Amino acid sequence: MRKNEFLYRVGQFFKVLLSHPDEAQLKKVSQILEPDQYGLFMQLQNSEQAHAIYVMEAIEKEGYQDKDFLKAALLHDIGKIVHPLKVWERVMAVICRWINPDCLDDLDETDIKGWKRGLVITKKHPEWGADMIANSNASPELVEIIRKHHEGEIEAKEPRYQSFLLLLRAVDDNN
Ligand SMILES: [Fe+2]
Ligand SMILES: [Fe+2]
Repeated sequence: MRKNEFLYRVGQFFKVLLSHPDEAQLKKVSQILEPDQYGLFMQLQNSEQAHAIYVMEAIEKEGYQDKDFLKAALLHDIGKIVHPLKVWERVMAVICRWINPDCLDDLDETDIKGWKRGLVITKKHPEWGADMIANSNASPELVEIIRKHHEGEIEAKEPRYQSFLLLLRAVDDNN
């Protein structure tokens, strides 16, 4: 990572950390999500809500307007409401993967304590979120996208879901 890129990333990190959604954005979210999903969304930290809305708006600009895609963008990190990440844990997770991209591989839920807590949340939140959303009024594709939003392939009838997943990952990584 070059110095300019590093500084840009640090700047983005704090910008996102301090951001929160405005009323108009939350109204739009409430019109896209089912009422129980909106209830879950509101349990996310403000910065996580702002991140999800940023991802949704970026996805929308790329022409993905179907409700399932917008819901997936808004709910992709919903598993983080189970165990909210503290700031230093986010930093730790970024640094750990920067040093060693495989550093999450051997972790499981029993490690969710001490300095490993943030790493376990980073690894497991897609699974927690997918299980949670499976209990709401969600399509199997939506659940699958949330489960695989960081890695893996989804089983969907339409190829558009596969290309959406790649776009979601790219936008997510950029923010
Ligand atoms: Fe995520
Ligand atoms: Fe995300």
